[in-house]
Amino acid sequence: MKVAPSLLSGNFLRLEQDIDMVNRSQASYLHLDVMDGVFVPNISFGFPVMQAVASRSEKPLDVHLMIVEPQKWVSQVRDLGAEIMNVHQEACLHLHRTVQAIHDAGMKAGVTLCPATPVATLVDIIGDVDLVLIMSVNPGFGGQPFIPHSVKKVEELRRLIDATGSKALIEVDGGVNVATGAQLAAAGADILVAGNSVFSAADPSGAIAALAAL
Ligand code: DX5
Ligand code: ZN
Repeated sequence: MKVAPSLLSGNFLRLEQDIDMVNRSQASYLHLDVMDGVFVPNISFGFPVMQAVASRSEKPLDVHLMIVEPQKWVSQVRDLGAEIMNVHQEACLHLHRTVQAIHDAGMKAGVTLCPATPVATLVDIIGDVDLVLIMSVNPGFGGQPFIPHSVKKVEELRRLIDATGSKALIEVDGGVNVATGAQLAAAGADILVAGNSVFSAADPSGAIAALAAL
């Protein structure tokens, strides 16, 4: 299993140490959560902080934009050197155009679904995206409990991807720990995002390894 630790649950007074821990861990990506106080009821961090983080990270960046009009920020995310740019389906009026713009900028395009947004909304774009991010909490905060129905959404998305021959990876974000991660692995997830379960662990690197072993 690929693991993407979410720096949102890191210690903002010593991000360097947390980034170095992720660098030395079995993580496949570093997940960065951008919030604008409009699309979600919280504000996290923006480009100046992410530029500093990018300069220290040895892991590819997985940027999750919980913002309105994410298409306005494609070039800035590209300039970070991000590998994946995740935009919310609910935030994109012209999702196909935004996915094209992300590809034109040389990044992998991820489309994210909130808990109440059906997998079926992706039927006409599943062949064009590199990744689908299923939110297993309502976006905006770390440390929330996992929404059990998310497992069924991952199963449904797996069926859609397999039936269409899409190459999209399935990523899941919110309330992920070893117990919920095991259910998601069985359902067909490829990447697990984990914030609280990693950074509140006595051994964060070990927590990443435990998820990677699923
Ligand atoms: C929530 C963010 C998540 C968050 C996950 O809106 O998208 O990436 O950091 O945190 P946990 O793993 O604590 O639910
Ligand atoms: Zn996230």
